[in-house]
Amino acid sequence: MRKIIVTIDGYSSCGKSTLAKRLSERLGFLYIDSGAMYRAITLYILRNRIDWEDEMAVKEALENIHLEFLYNNANGKNEIYLNGENVEYLIRDMLVAENVSQVAAVKAVRDFAVAAQRAIGTQKGIVMDGRDIGTAVFPHAEVKIFLTADFSVRVGRRFKELVEKNPNITIEEVEHNLEMRDYIDSHREHSPLKQAADAVILDNSQLSPDETLSKAMNMVESLSNAH
Ligand code: CDP
Repeated sequence: MRKIIVTIDGYSSCGKSTLAKRLSERLGFLYIDSGAMYRAITLYILRNRIDWEDEMAVKEALENIHLEFLYNNANGKNEIYLNGENVEYLIRDMLVAENVSQVAAVKAVRDFAVAAQRAIGTQKGIVMDGRDIGTAVFPHAEVKIFLTADFSVRVGRRFKELVEKNPNITIEEVEHNLEMRDYIDSHREHSPLKQAADAVILDNSQLSPDETLSKAMNMVESLSNAH
């Protein structure tokens, strides 16, 4: 497979990262989880009690943030590091999930994350998932997938994932978090979540991860040949 850019965008918890990771393995490409970058920035902002509505304070904070992805041989994952600390697991915390969409709506935060994502993209041969990858980050990507799933399916999937780490979490909390993030992500002023005009929709409500991967592979094969 020649080196191209594959973008996977969509609402929260529709299986973007599962698909992106497996697709990248199949293609021999690099997988980048752009959401992890917004989550790591949010973690830094929360830890340092920075007011994200204060533009100067956010800009100053961003100057002190260094993000990188390092490959973990043990699990085959590219994990995110915030100023040298592996925060891959900490950033999945509910406290981060409750604040990340507000932080990700700040223009300076987006400019910072998008610049870093584009820098990674110069090497091509990547699969990147997020909200605005096909619309704003790589508008000329060869393959753009817009992944969707029914709301109740998405809530069920995310609840199952989170309850393993935190048995006290309730389905209502997860439901409320997804509803809130989907709303903020799709209504923000700067690069809101929306389907790119040239993206193909893949609804995986009724599909297993294997079936989703095989449909996505078909899309990649036919679209990359068309370019
Ligand atoms: O895993 P999940 O789909 O729930 O979220 P994520 O991909 O980890 O992204 C977390 C949050 O980061 C999203 O709710 C968005 O607010 C923000 N985000 C964004 O604004 N743009 C992106 N390209 C990726 C994530």
